[in-house]
Amino acid sequence: MGIIIKDKVFTIHTKNSTYQLKVDDKGVLLHTYYGRRTDETDYSYMIMAADVGFSGNIAAADNDRTYSLDYFPQEYPVLGSGDYRVNCLEMELGQGVKDCMLFYDSHKTYSGKYSLPGLPALFARENDNVETLEIVMKEDRENVYVHLLYGVFFEEDIITRAVFIENKSGKEIRVSRVMSFCVDFARGDYDLIHFHGRHANERNLERVPLFHGIFELRSTRGTSSHQHNPFVILADKNTNEEMGECYGAALVYSGGFHMQTEVDQLEHARLVMGIDDSELDWRIADGDIFTAPEVMLGYSPNGLSCLSHNYHDAVFHHLIRSVWKDRQRPVLVNNWEATYFDFNAEKLLAIAKQGAELGLDMLVLDDGWFGKRDSDYSGLGDWYVNEKKLGCTLKELVDKINNMGLSFGIWVEPEMISEDSDLYRAHPDWAFVVPNREPIRGRAQLVLDMTREDVVSYIEERLFALLDSANIQYIKWDMNRSLAAVYSAGLGKEHQGEVRHRFVLGLYRILEDLHTKYPELLIEGCSGGGGRFDMGMLYYTPQIWCSDNTDAIERLRIQYGTSFAYPMSSVSAHVSVCPNHQNGRVTPFKTRGICAMQGTFGYELDLSRMCDEDKMLAKEQVKTFKQHYRLFQFGDYYRIASPFENSDFTAWEYVAKDGREAYVAVVFTDVHGNPLPKTVRLKGLVADAVYKICRDGHVLESRTGAALMNAGLLLPIPETSYDSTAFYVSMEG
Ligand code: DGJ
Repeated sequence: MGIIIKDKVFTIHTKNSTYQLKVDDKGVLLHTYYGRRTDETDYSYMIMAADVGFSGNIAAADNDRTYSLDYFPQEYPVLGSGDYRVNCLEMELGQGVKDCMLFYDSHKTYSGKYSLPGLPALFARENDNVETLEIVMKEDRENVYVHLLYGVFFEEDIITRAVFIENKSGKEIRVSRVMSFCVDFARGDYDLIHFHGRHANERNLERVPLFHGIFELRSTRGTSSHQHNPFVILADKNTNEEMGECYGAALVYSGGFHMQTEVDQLEHARLVMGIDDSELDWRIADGDIFTAPEVMLGYSPNGLSCLSHNYHDAVFHHLIRSVWKDRQRPVLVNNWEATYFDFNAEKLLAIAKQGAELGLDMLVLDDGWFGKRDSDYSGLGDWYVNEKKLGCTLKELVDKINNMGLSFGIWVEPEMISEDSDLYRAHPDWAFVVPNREPIRGRAQLVLDMTREDVVSYIEERLFALLDSANIQYIKWDMNRSLAAVYSAGLGKEHQGEVRHRFVLGLYRILEDLHTKYPELLIEGCSGGGGRFDMGMLYYTPQIWCSDNTDAIERLRIQYGTSFAYPMSSVSAHVSVCPNHQNGRVTPFKTRGICAMQGTFGYELDLSRMCDEDKMLAKEQVKTFKQHYRLFQFGDYYRIASPFENSDFTAWEYVAKDGREAYVAVVFTDVHGNPLPKTVRLKGLVADAVYKICRDGHVLESRTGAALMNAGLLLPIPETSYDSTAFYVSMEG
């Protein structure tokens, strides 16, 4: 049993963690423990009750000056309770002031997992060891109920949390901040690990100590963003890949978000995260509900690798729904960096023909196939095939590609509209523009108002017509700007504070409808590369284009940062030409292949113009990826050497869950005259088993798992800049 309730003390156990909350004698819901698995002791004995001065006391405490919510650890702190720290809920109940107070009302538990209407959420499969706890808090004076939901994923050490607010007060209420969770830690001396970046340079790892006061990460961009990822880790100072305690929090949401940590006057740390509240003003009518997205809390007593494995497993088994989760993903060629907007059927068929000869599975036609779209200044919204440009119908093109033995995928950017488009000329009010003001453009385009029924219907009608017009097995769903100056002509001015979240709900609705109507369709997420790489999108799209930066060496950092929360099978990565289009760097073809095979593999270059040597290498790469795809897709992923810490090489490893085989890749990021010997130590093998070691396809020797994990492997000396190598080890017998 994961959830044990005794005298209003709720103890939640997962395999290696315990989480506890308690309703105290005043009806306040306290947070009493989160960490290493322990017993059901009532841990409120650890809370110090003292008069610390200048800390308010709620009415229920009478004149007890040692009882203050200003420093007691709480499960869902609100504005109005005398708690001056960052809170979870700001609610206006009709008096013009944000003031509320919550007390315990009831609770229930059941086996299985709650779901959230219109929002992505983890799910339980039949026979999974998953339970739900729901605690209902009631506002002190009004019939407003705050439901706190907990999903307990025992095996993966993941606890999900979500919140919904039910208004039965008989009047409209307003919320301007609804965080998905709070954890109050008994200590404040943690490191925060977070992943920041920019377009074409996403998810750089930064590790900083928490400090007194508030630290925040947020995206006000309407998407989770390139700049900050809605995933953070709190780690003990000594925590590394293999040892030490750490906690993760990943928001299952694709819009703007807000994460804050605060170390308070008693040196406790508080962590909160939820949807972006910078412009939130949501009116909840009497009888209505507002639901805040889910968060995945994770705990590892054994370092960062274990935390990542828990997230990867939870995403794989309980978040991704696509049938492609378990299927071998197509090795594809995408024509974007091969042709950009300058293509016709003949060029595409030449690429496809070469792709078929190399053993590829799919051709993806990127931007430029519709409307008037020969540059990024026009055409978005006109989702009608430009047959003049192609020189044939889409079906004719797809049939020819299918006849070559390749399947077909296509790019779309449904949330956008160009001012130079028939759609904009017909419906200027379908774009976000503040009345009587100039629009803010991004990549010369505007954002469609996805809160509107007519917009959602139009997009669905166009997408369905496209998918029904030819044998399309994949779409790449792109989104190439941040939201700004957001105003919906379809909503009254009193509802403008709802638009950003309603935009995300509109996006999710279309993705859900696609999932239902085309269950076999593989959808790849994308937002100018990795601008929307988050748990919310993975619910609909089992893979995401990780970055618009295809340089193998820069990808080492981007993919490294991404790997902390997201399984590598969700990381889409392609081999592109050199000099690289983003930074001009030249890297060996072999290294580009090894880096792209770290994720879901493909090519992004004009295959028909490759030299013979590259063609031969590409054939080998496709063969290698297909040979080991089970390891790459279903194995445990280990970060062996970090591109942020090791300037000489980056290394990673995949290990089969049963430890019988592993694949280790090494990319040399610097070369030296008179080089030093370099080694890697493998992880996750069976110590007393004997493994046969192959390097770059040649059998070298056999070693025990213990030798490979404790002493390691000696790396070859790099022969050129950015050289690379890969070892495959398999258990003998
Ligand atoms: C941004 C994507 O990340 C690229 O791969 C490409 O699809 C372009 N958009 C097309 O406009």
